[in-house]
Amino acid sequence: MPGDRDVFRAPNGTHDVLPPESDRWQAFVAAFAMRARRANFDLLVTPIFEHVEVVQKLGATTDAVSKEMYDFLDKGGRRLALRADGTASVVRSFAQHQPVTPWKVWYVAPNFRYERPQKGRYRQHWQVGVEVLGVDDASVDVEVIALADGFYRRELGLQHLRLLINSMGDADTRTRYRAVLLQYWRDHAALIGDDMARAEANPLRVLDSKRDDWQTMIDAAPQIGDYLTDTAAADFELVQSGLRALGIDFEIAPRLVRGLDYYTGTTFEFQSSALDAAQNAVGGGGRYDGLVEQMGGKPTPGIGFGIGIERGLIACDAEGVFAAPGASVDVFVIDAVGGLSSLTLVEELRGAGLSADRAYGARAVKKQWGAADRAGARWGVMLAPRELADGTVVVKELASGEQGEVKRDEVAAWLRTREDETPR
Ligand code: HAM
Repeated sequence: MPGDRDVFRAPNGTHDVLPPESDRWQAFVAAFAMRARRANFDLLVTPIFEHVEVVQKLGATTDAVSKEMYDFLDKGGRRLALRADGTASVVRSFAQHQPVTPWKVWYVAPNFRYERPQKGRYRQHWQVGVEVLGVDDASVDVEVIALADGFYRRELGLQHLRLLINSMGDADTRTRYRAVLLQYWRDHAALIGDDMARAEANPLRVLDSKRDDWQTMIDAAPQIGDYLTDTAAADFELVQSGLRALGIDFEIAPRLVRGLDYYTGTTFEFQSSALDAAQNAVGGGGRYDGLVEQMGGKPTPGIGFGIGIERGLIACDAEGVFAAPGASVDVFVIDAVGGLSSLTLVEELRGAGLSADRAYGARAVKKQWGAADRAGARWGVMLAPRELADGTVVVKELASGEQGEVKRDEVAAWLRTREDETPR
Protein backbone atom coordinates (compact mmCIF):
# COMPACT_ATOMS: atom_id res chain seq x y z
CA MET A 1 0.00 0.00 0.00
CA PRO A 2 1.38 3.42 -0.84
CA GLY A 3 2.02 5.88 1.98
CA ASP A 4 0.60 9.42 1.96
CA ARG A 5 3.07 10.84 -0.50
CA ASP A 6 3.81 7.75 -2.58
CA VAL A 7 2.45 7.26 -6.07
CA PHE A 8 0.11 4.31 -6.49
CA ARG A 9 1.66 1.44 -8.37
CA ALA A 10 0.19 -1.62 -10.09
CA PRO A 11 0.18 -4.67 -7.77
CA ASN A 12 3.22 -6.93 -7.68
CA GLY A 13 3.33 -9.29 -10.63
CA THR A 14 1.04 -7.15 -12.81
CA HIS A 15 1.96 -4.53 -15.38
CA ASP A 16 0.50 -1.88 -17.62
CA VAL A 17 0.84 -2.28 -21.37
CA LEU A 18 1.70 1.26 -22.40
CA PRO A 19 1.87 2.85 -25.85
CA PRO A 20 3.83 2.25 -28.06
CA GLU A 21 4.20 -1.34 -26.75
CA SER A 22 0.42 -1.62 -26.74
CA ASP A 23 0.48 -1.22 -30.56
CA ARG A 24 2.58 -4.30 -30.80
CA TRP A 25 0.34 -6.09 -28.34
CA GLN A 26 -2.67 -5.22 -30.45
CA ALA A 27 -0.88 -6.40 -33.61
CA PHE A 28 -0.01 -9.68 -31.86
CA VAL A 29 -3.64 -10.34 -31.00
CA ALA A 30 -4.83 -9.23 -34.46
CA ALA A 31 -2.38 -11.59 -36.19
CA PHE A 32 -3.53 -14.44 -33.97
CA ALA A 33 -7.19 -13.63 -34.60
CA MET A 34 -6.55 -13.64 -38.35
CA ARG A 35 -4.86 -17.09 -38.23
CA ALA A 36 -7.59 -18.49 -35.99
CA ARG A 37 -10.29 -17.09 -38.28
CA ARG A 38 -8.64 -18.66 -41.31
CA ALA A 39 -8.91 -22.02 -39.58
CA ASN A 40 -12.60 -21.27 -38.88
CA PHE A 41 -12.33 -20.58 -35.14
CA ASP A 42 -14.85 -18.13 -33.63
CA LEU A 43 -14.14 -15.78 -30.73
CA LEU A 44 -15.41 -16.85 -27.30
CA VAL A 45 -15.52 -14.37 -24.41
CA THR A 46 -16.03 -15.81 -20.94
CA PRO A 47 -16.19 -14.15 -17.49
CA ILE A 48 -12.97 -13.29 -15.73
CA PHE A 49 -14.13 -15.17 -12.62
CA GLU A 50 -15.88 -18.51 -12.27
CA HIS A 51 -17.31 -20.64 -9.49
CA VAL A 52 -14.26 -21.94 -7.67
CA GLU A 53 -15.10 -25.54 -8.64
CA VAL A 54 -14.54 -24.69 -12.33
CA VAL A 55 -10.99 -23.49 -11.72
CA GLN A 56 -10.39 -26.39 -9.34
CA LYS A 57 -10.98 -28.74 -12.28
CA LEU A 58 -7.45 -27.89 -13.41
CA GLY A 59 -6.60 -30.47 -10.75
CA ALA A 60 -6.09 -30.51 -7.02
CA THR A 61 -2.38 -31.20 -7.47
CA THR A 62 -1.91 -28.46 -10.08
CA ASP A 63 0.11 -25.52 -8.68
CA ALA A 64 -2.34 -23.10 -10.30
CA VAL A 65 -5.00 -24.51 -7.94
CA SER A 66 -3.16 -25.75 -4.85
CA LYS A 67 -0.83 -22.78 -4.38
CA GLU A 68 -1.68 -19.99 -6.78
CA MET A 69 -5.45 -19.65 -7.09
CA TYR A 70 -7.04 -16.23 -6.57
CA ASP A 71 -10.22 -17.32 -4.82
CA PHE A 72 -12.52 -15.18 -2.72
CA LEU A 73 -16.00 -14.91 -1.27
CA ASP A 74 -18.26 -12.39 -2.98
CA LYS A 75 -20.73 -10.25 -1.07
CA GLY A 76 -23.37 -12.94 -1.48
CA GLY A 77 -21.11 -15.50 0.18
CA ARG A 78 -20.32 -17.41 -3.04
CA ARG A 79 -16.82 -18.79 -3.42
CA LEU A 80 -15.43 -17.62 -6.75
CA ALA A 81 -12.00 -17.72 -8.35
CA LEU A 82 -10.27 -15.57 -10.95
CA ARG A 83 -9.58 -17.53 -14.11
CA ALA A 84 -6.21 -19.35 -13.97
CA ASP A 85 -6.28 -20.49 -17.62
CA GLY A 86 -8.55 -20.29 -20.63
CA THR A 87 -9.41 -23.96 -20.98
CA ALA A 88 -11.46 -24.42 -17.81
CA SER A 89 -13.78 -21.53 -18.74
CA VAL A 90 -14.14 -22.65 -22.36
CA VAL A 91 -15.03 -26.17 -21.25
CA ARG A 92 -17.46 -24.88 -18.61
CA SER A 93 -19.10 -22.73 -21.30
CA PHE A 94 -19.31 -25.74 -23.65
CA ALA A 95 -20.87 -27.96 -20.98
CA GLN A 96 -23.35 -25.20 -20.12
CA HIS A 97 -24.49 -24.26 -23.63
CA GLN A 98 -24.08 -27.61 -25.39
CA PRO A 99 -23.30 -26.11 -28.80
CA VAL A 100 -23.14 -28.16 -31.99
CA THR A 101 -19.80 -29.91 -32.41
CA PRO A 102 -17.15 -29.54 -33.60
CA TRP A 103 -16.96 -26.36 -31.53
CA LYS A 104 -13.89 -24.35 -32.49
CA VAL A 105 -13.25 -21.21 -30.46
CA TRP A 106 -10.36 -18.82 -29.89
CA TYR A 107 -9.85 -16.39 -27.02
CA VAL A 108 -7.69 -13.61 -25.68
CA ALA A 109 -7.87 -13.22 -21.92
CA PRO A 110 -5.93 -12.49 -18.74
CA ASN A 111 -5.19 -15.31 -16.30
CA PHE A 112 -4.31 -15.10 -12.63
CA ARG A 113 -1.79 -17.23 -10.76
CA TYR A 114 -0.15 -16.22 -7.51
CA GLU A 115 3.38 -16.94 -8.75
CA ARG A 116 6.71 -15.50 -7.59
CA PRO A 117 7.02 -12.60 -10.04
CA GLN A 118 10.06 -12.42 -12.31
CA LYS A 119 10.73 -11.61 -15.95
CA GLY A 120 8.29 -13.69 -17.98
CA ARG A 121 6.35 -14.88 -14.91
CA TYR A 122 3.51 -12.72 -13.67
CA ARG A 123 0.50 -12.90 -11.37
CA GLN A 124 -1.65 -11.63 -14.19
CA HIS A 125 -0.58 -12.82 -17.63
CA TRP A 126 -2.41 -12.82 -20.94
CA GLN A 127 -2.94 -15.67 -23.34
CA VAL A 128 -4.33 -16.10 -26.81
CA GLY A 129 -5.48 -19.64 -27.46
CA VAL A 130 -7.84 -22.02 -29.21
CA GLU A 131 -9.89 -25.02 -28.15
CA VAL A 132 -11.61 -27.65 -30.32
CA LEU A 133 -14.40 -29.60 -28.62
CA GLY A 134 -16.01 -32.71 -30.01
CA VAL A 135 -13.38 -34.15 -32.36
CA ASP A 136 -11.47 -37.30 -31.52
CA ASP A 137 -9.13 -37.41 -34.49
CA ALA A 138 -5.33 -37.21 -34.41
CA SER A 139 -5.34 -34.97 -37.49
CA VAL A 140 -7.03 -32.26 -35.39
CA ASP A 141 -4.13 -32.48 -32.95
CA VAL A 142 -1.86 -31.85 -35.94
CA GLU A 143 -3.96 -28.89 -37.17
CA VAL A 144 -3.99 -27.31 -33.73
CA ILE A 145 -0.21 -27.64 -33.37
CA ALA A 146 0.23 -26.32 -36.93
CA LEU A 147 -1.86 -23.25 -36.10
CA ALA A 148 0.42 -22.34 -33.19
CA ASP A 149 3.58 -23.19 -35.12
CA GLY A 150 2.51 -21.06 -38.11
CA PHE A 151 1.62 -18.15 -35.85
CA TYR A 152 5.02 -18.16 -34.13
CA ARG A 153 7.11 -18.70 -37.22
CA ARG A 154 5.22 -16.81 -39.91
CA GLU A 155 3.22 -14.09 -38.15
CA LEU A 156 5.78 -13.27 -35.44
CA GLY A 157 8.88 -14.38 -37.36
CA LEU A 158 10.40 -16.38 -34.48
CA GLN A 159 13.07 -18.91 -35.44
CA HIS A 160 14.73 -20.02 -32.22
CA LEU A 161 11.83 -22.15 -31.20
CA ARG A 162 11.58 -25.84 -30.30
CA LEU A 163 8.36 -27.78 -30.48
CA LEU A 164 8.27 -30.60 -27.93
CA ILE A 165 5.56 -33.24 -28.10
CA ASN A 166 4.56 -36.18 -25.96
CA SER A 167 1.58 -38.44 -25.39
CA MET A 168 -0.11 -38.98 -22.05
CA GLY A 169 -1.77 -42.02 -23.60
CA ASP A 170 -5.25 -43.28 -22.80
CA ALA A 171 -6.73 -44.08 -19.38
CA ASP A 172 -5.12 -47.55 -19.29
CA THR A 173 -1.74 -46.07 -20.13
CA ARG A 174 -1.96 -43.53 -17.34
CA THR A 175 -3.14 -46.04 -14.71
CA ARG A 176 -0.23 -48.37 -15.48
CA TYR A 177 2.30 -45.55 -15.74
CA ARG A 178 1.23 -43.79 -12.53
CA ALA A 179 1.68 -47.01 -10.56
CA VAL A 180 5.18 -47.60 -11.95
CA LEU A 181 6.17 -43.96 -11.46
CA LEU A 182 4.87 -43.87 -7.89
CA GLN A 183 6.89 -46.96 -7.03
CA TYR A 184 9.96 -45.23 -8.48
CA TRP A 185 9.38 -42.11 -6.31
CA ARG A 186 8.85 -44.29 -3.25
CA ASP A 187 12.24 -45.86 -3.96
CA HIS A 188 13.62 -42.29 -3.82
CA ALA A 189 11.57 -41.15 -0.83
CA ALA A 190 14.66 -40.01 1.08
CA LEU A 191 15.48 -37.45 -1.61
CA ILE A 192 11.85 -36.40 -2.14
CA GLY A 193 11.35 -35.81 1.60
CA ASP A 194 8.28 -33.73 2.57
CA ASP A 195 7.07 -33.60 -1.03
CA MET A 196 6.33 -37.33 -0.92
CA ALA A 197 2.68 -36.60 -0.06
CA ARG A 198 2.39 -34.62 -3.29
CA ALA A 199 4.08 -37.39 -5.24
CA GLU A 200 1.57 -39.84 -3.80
CA ALA A 201 -1.35 -37.58 -4.71
CA ASN A 202 -0.13 -37.21 -8.30
CA PRO A 203 3.10 -38.93 -9.29
CA LEU A 204 3.21 -36.97 -12.59
CA ARG A 205 3.72 -33.62 -10.85
CA VAL A 206 7.24 -34.57 -9.71
CA LEU A 207 8.25 -34.71 -13.38
CA ASP A 208 7.58 -30.95 -13.80
CA SER A 209 9.84 -30.02 -10.90
CA LYS A 210 12.66 -27.63 -11.64
CA ARG A 211 14.56 -28.58 -8.45
CA ASP A 212 18.23 -29.02 -9.38
CA ASP A 213 18.87 -31.80 -6.87
CA TRP A 214 16.06 -33.89 -8.37
CA GLN A 215 17.03 -33.67 -12.02
CA THR A 216 19.21 -36.82 -12.07
CA MET A 217 16.40 -38.77 -10.39
CA ILE A 218 13.82 -37.34 -12.82
CA ASP A 219 16.03 -38.08 -15.84
CA ALA A 220 16.25 -41.74 -14.84
CA ALA A 221 12.50 -42.07 -14.07
CA PRO A 222 10.33 -44.46 -16.12
CA GLN A 223 9.00 -42.83 -19.31
CA ILE A 224 5.35 -42.80 -20.30
CA GLY A 225 6.24 -43.73 -23.89
CA ASP A 226 7.17 -47.22 -22.69
CA TYR A 227 3.68 -47.71 -21.22
CA LEU A 228 1.48 -46.53 -24.11
CA THR A 229 -1.20 -49.04 -25.06
CA ASP A 230 -1.25 -50.08 -28.73
CA THR A 231 -4.14 -47.70 -29.48
CA ALA A 232 -2.42 -44.77 -27.75
CA ALA A 233 0.88 -45.53 -29.51
CA ALA A 234 -0.87 -45.69 -32.90
CA ASP A 235 -2.57 -42.34 -32.26
CA PHE A 236 0.71 -40.72 -31.29
CA GLU A 237 2.30 -42.13 -34.44
CA LEU A 238 -0.49 -40.50 -36.49
CA VAL A 239 0.22 -37.12 -34.87
CA GLN A 240 3.90 -37.44 -35.70
CA SER A 241 3.32 -38.45 -39.31
CA GLY A 242 0.87 -35.54 -39.71
CA LEU A 243 3.46 -33.07 -38.43
CA ARG A 244 6.07 -34.55 -40.77
CA ALA A 245 3.64 -34.24 -43.69
CA LEU A 246 3.29 -30.51 -42.92
CA GLY A 247 7.05 -30.07 -42.60
CA ILE A 248 6.80 -29.10 -38.90
CA ASP A 249 9.94 -29.94 -36.91
CA PHE A 250 9.39 -31.46 -33.48
CA GLU A 251 11.19 -33.36 -30.77
CA ILE A 252 9.66 -36.09 -28.65
CA ALA A 253 9.94 -35.15 -24.96
CA PRO A 254 8.98 -38.20 -22.88
CA ARG A 255 8.86 -36.16 -19.68
CA LEU A 256 6.60 -33.42 -21.03
CA VAL A 257 3.52 -34.02 -18.86
CA ARG A 258 2.77 -30.28 -18.46
CA GLY A 259 1.67 -28.67 -15.25
CA LEU A 260 -2.10 -29.14 -15.46
CA ASP A 261 -3.84 -32.34 -14.38
CA TYR A 262 -6.45 -32.48 -17.15
CA TYR A 263 -4.20 -33.69 -19.98
CA THR A 264 -4.85 -36.96 -21.82
CA GLY A 265 -3.22 -38.00 -25.12
CA THR A 266 -1.12 -35.50 -27.08
CA THR A 267 0.68 -32.77 -25.13
CA PHE A 268 2.99 -30.17 -26.64
CA GLU A 269 4.99 -27.11 -25.73
CA PHE A 270 6.85 -24.42 -27.66
CA GLN A 271 10.06 -23.33 -25.99
CA SER A 272 12.17 -20.34 -26.94
CA SER A 273 15.93 -20.45 -26.46
CA ALA A 274 15.74 -16.66 -26.15
CA LEU A 275 14.22 -16.99 -22.64
CA ASP A 276 15.60 -18.26 -19.32
CA ALA A 277 15.08 -21.99 -18.88
CA ALA A 278 12.64 -21.58 -15.97
CA GLN A 279 10.16 -19.69 -18.16
CA ASN A 280 11.14 -20.61 -21.70
CA ALA A 281 7.70 -22.05 -22.53
CA VAL A 282 6.06 -19.50 -24.81
CA GLY A 283 3.00 -21.67 -25.29
CA GLY A 284 1.63 -25.13 -24.87
CA GLY A 285 -1.39 -27.33 -24.86
CA GLY A 286 -2.78 -30.75 -25.41
CA ARG A 287 -5.76 -33.07 -25.26
CA TYR A 288 -8.16 -33.17 -22.32
CA ASP A 289 -10.71 -35.81 -23.23
CA GLY A 290 -12.21 -36.10 -19.73
CA LEU A 291 -12.69 -32.45 -18.81
CA VAL A 292 -16.14 -31.78 -20.29
CA GLU A 293 -17.57 -34.70 -18.33
CA GLN A 294 -15.88 -33.43 -15.17
CA MET A 295 -17.70 -30.12 -15.71
CA GLY A 296 -21.01 -31.96 -15.85
CA GLY A 297 -21.26 -32.18 -19.65
CA LYS A 298 -21.57 -35.21 -21.94
CA PRO A 299 -18.29 -37.04 -22.54
CA THR A 300 -16.61 -34.96 -25.26
CA PRO A 301 -13.01 -34.93 -26.48
CA GLY A 302 -11.11 -31.64 -26.47
CA ILE A 303 -7.77 -30.19 -27.49
CA GLY A 304 -6.24 -26.73 -27.54
CA PHE A 305 -3.35 -24.52 -26.60
CA GLY A 306 -2.55 -21.25 -24.87
CA ILE A 307 0.16 -18.82 -25.96
CA GLY A 308 1.56 -16.37 -23.42
CA ILE A 309 1.44 -12.88 -24.90
CA GLU A 310 4.12 -11.41 -22.61
CA ARG A 311 6.53 -14.28 -23.15
CA GLY A 312 5.83 -14.29 -26.90
CA LEU A 313 6.78 -10.61 -27.07
CA ILE A 314 9.90 -11.14 -24.92
CA ALA A 315 10.98 -13.84 -27.37
CA CYS A 316 10.32 -11.42 -30.27
CA ASP A 317 12.50 -8.78 -28.57
CA ALA A 318 15.31 -11.27 -28.08
CA GLU A 319 15.19 -12.25 -31.76
CA GLY A 320 14.66 -8.67 -32.97
CA VAL A 321 11.46 -9.56 -34.84
CA PHE A 322 7.84 -8.31 -34.85
CA ALA A 323 8.59 -4.62 -34.40
CA ALA A 324 5.83 -2.22 -33.36
CA PRO A 325 3.87 -1.18 -36.45
CA GLY A 326 4.41 2.51 -35.53
CA ALA A 327 1.26 4.35 -34.66
CA SER A 328 0.42 7.40 -36.72
CA VAL A 329 -2.50 9.50 -37.86
CA ASP A 330 -3.41 10.50 -41.40
CA VAL A 331 -4.13 14.13 -40.63
CA PHE A 332 -3.23 16.62 -37.90
CA VAL A 333 -5.24 19.82 -37.71
CA ILE A 334 -3.33 23.02 -36.90
CA ASP A 335 -5.57 25.69 -35.44
CA ALA A 336 -4.62 29.34 -35.87
CA VAL A 337 -8.14 30.72 -35.53
CA GLY A 338 -9.55 29.34 -32.28
CA GLY A 339 -13.21 28.70 -31.57
CA LEU A 340 -14.88 25.51 -32.70
CA SER A 341 -13.49 25.26 -36.22
CA SER A 342 -10.77 22.67 -35.50
CA LEU A 343 -13.19 20.56 -33.42
CA THR A 344 -15.65 20.41 -36.31
CA LEU A 345 -12.92 19.74 -38.88
CA VAL A 346 -11.38 16.74 -37.03
CA GLU A 347 -14.81 15.22 -36.55
CA GLU A 348 -15.55 15.70 -40.25
CA LEU A 349 -12.22 14.05 -41.20
CA ARG A 350 -12.86 11.11 -38.86
CA GLY A 351 -16.35 10.80 -40.31
CA ALA A 352 -14.75 10.52 -43.76
CA GLY A 353 -12.75 7.51 -42.54
CA LEU A 354 -9.43 9.27 -41.95
CA SER A 355 -7.56 9.12 -38.67
CA ALA A 356 -7.23 12.66 -37.39
CA ASP A 357 -6.02 14.51 -34.32
CA ARG A 358 -5.25 18.05 -33.21
CA ALA A 359 -3.54 20.00 -30.42
CA TYR A 360 -5.59 21.37 -27.54
CA GLY A 361 -5.50 24.58 -25.57
CA ALA A 362 -4.68 27.25 -28.16
CA ARG A 363 -0.98 26.38 -28.43
CA ALA A 364 1.42 28.36 -30.62
CA VAL A 365 1.18 27.38 -34.28
CA LYS A 366 4.84 26.29 -34.38
CA LYS A 367 4.26 23.95 -31.44
CA GLN A 368 1.22 22.50 -33.16
CA TRP A 369 3.31 21.67 -36.25
CA GLY A 370 5.78 19.96 -33.87
CA ALA A 371 2.91 17.92 -32.41
CA ALA A 372 1.85 16.94 -35.95
CA ASP A 373 5.37 15.61 -36.57
CA ARG A 374 5.39 13.67 -33.31
CA ALA A 375 2.02 12.14 -34.12
CA GLY A 376 3.59 10.80 -37.33
CA ALA A 377 0.92 12.58 -39.37
CA ARG A 378 1.09 12.37 -43.13
CA TRP A 379 -0.81 15.62 -43.64
CA GLY A 380 -1.09 18.86 -41.68
CA VAL A 381 -4.20 20.94 -42.31
CA MET A 382 -4.00 24.51 -41.03
CA LEU A 383 -7.00 26.67 -40.27
CA ALA A 384 -5.67 30.23 -40.66
CA PRO A 385 -7.69 33.49 -40.58
CA ARG A 386 -6.85 34.80 -44.08
CA GLU A 387 -7.37 31.48 -45.89
CA LEU A 388 -10.56 30.69 -43.96
CA ALA A 389 -11.97 34.05 -44.94
CA ASP A 390 -11.51 32.84 -48.57
CA GLY A 391 -13.11 29.51 -47.71
CA THR A 392 -9.84 27.54 -47.94
CA VAL A 393 -7.37 25.74 -45.65
CA VAL A 394 -3.63 25.12 -45.97
CA VAL A 395 -2.74 21.47 -46.61
CA LYS A 396 0.85 20.32 -46.20
CA GLU A 397 2.34 16.89 -46.80
CA LEU A 398 4.78 16.67 -43.93
CA ALA A 399 7.36 14.33 -45.47
CA SER A 400 7.84 16.32 -48.70
CA GLY A 401 7.01 19.75 -47.27
CA GLU A 402 4.75 20.37 -50.29
CA GLN A 403 1.84 22.59 -49.50
CA GLY A 404 -1.16 24.26 -51.13
CA GLU A 405 -4.65 25.49 -50.51
CA VAL A 406 -7.78 23.37 -50.70
CA LYS A 407 -11.39 24.50 -50.26
CA ARG A 408 -12.47 24.03 -46.66
CA ASP A 409 -15.64 22.20 -47.67
CA GLU A 410 -13.75 19.81 -49.93
CA VAL A 411 -10.71 19.06 -47.80
CA ALA A 412 -12.02 15.80 -46.31
CA ALA A 413 -12.86 14.36 -49.74
CA TRP A 414 -9.59 15.68 -51.18
CA LEU A 415 -7.51 13.97 -48.46
CA ARG A 416 -9.58 10.80 -48.67
CA THR A 417 -8.84 10.53 -52.40
CA ARG A 418 -5.08 11.03 -51.82
CA GLU A 419 -5.08 8.43 -49.02
CA ASP A 420 -6.88 5.90 -51.21
CA GLU A 421 -4.44 6.49 -54.10
CA THR A 422 -1.30 6.17 -51.96
CA PRO A 423 -2.07 4.31 -48.73
CA ARG A 424 0.81 4.22 -46.27
P1 HAM B 1 0.03 -23.19 -19.54
O1 HAM B 1 1.24 -23.93 -20.02
O2 HAM B 1 -0.19 -23.13 -18.10
O3 HAM B 1 -1.19 -23.82 -20.30
O4 HAM B 1 0.09 -21.70 -20.07
C1 HAM B 1 0.23 -21.43 -21.46
C2 HAM B 1 1.29 -20.35 -21.66
O5 HAM B 1 0.95 -19.18 -20.92
C3 HAM B 1 2.68 -20.71 -21.16
O6 HAM B 1 3.38 -21.47 -22.13
C4 HAM B 1 3.29 -19.35 -20.95
O7 HAM B 1 3.75 -18.81 -22.19
C5 HAM B 1 2.12 -18.52 -20.48
N1 HAM B 1 2.12 -18.41 -19.02
C6 HAM B 1 1.65 -19.31 -18.12
N2 HAM B 1 1.80 -18.85 -16.86
C7 HAM B 1 2.39 -17.63 -16.95
C8 HAM B 1 2.80 -16.63 -16.02
N3 HAM B 1 2.63 -16.79 -14.71
N4 HAM B 1 3.35 -15.50 -16.49
C9 HAM B 1 3.52 -15.31 -17.81
N5 HAM B 1 3.14 -16.20 -18.75
C10 HAM B 1 2.58 -17.35 -18.34
C11 HAM B 1 -2.48 -23.41 -20.12
O8 HAM B 1 -2.81 -22.42 -19.54
C12 HAM B 1 -3.46 -24.30 -20.85
N6 HAM B 1 -4.81 -23.75 -20.63
C13 HAM B 1 -3.15 -24.38 -22.32
C14 HAM B 1 -4.13 -25.25 -23.03
C15 HAM B 1 -5.17 -24.86 -23.77
N7 HAM B 1 -4.16 -26.58 -22.97
C16 HAM B 1 -5.19 -27.01 -23.68
N8 HAM B 1 -5.82 -25.97 -24.16
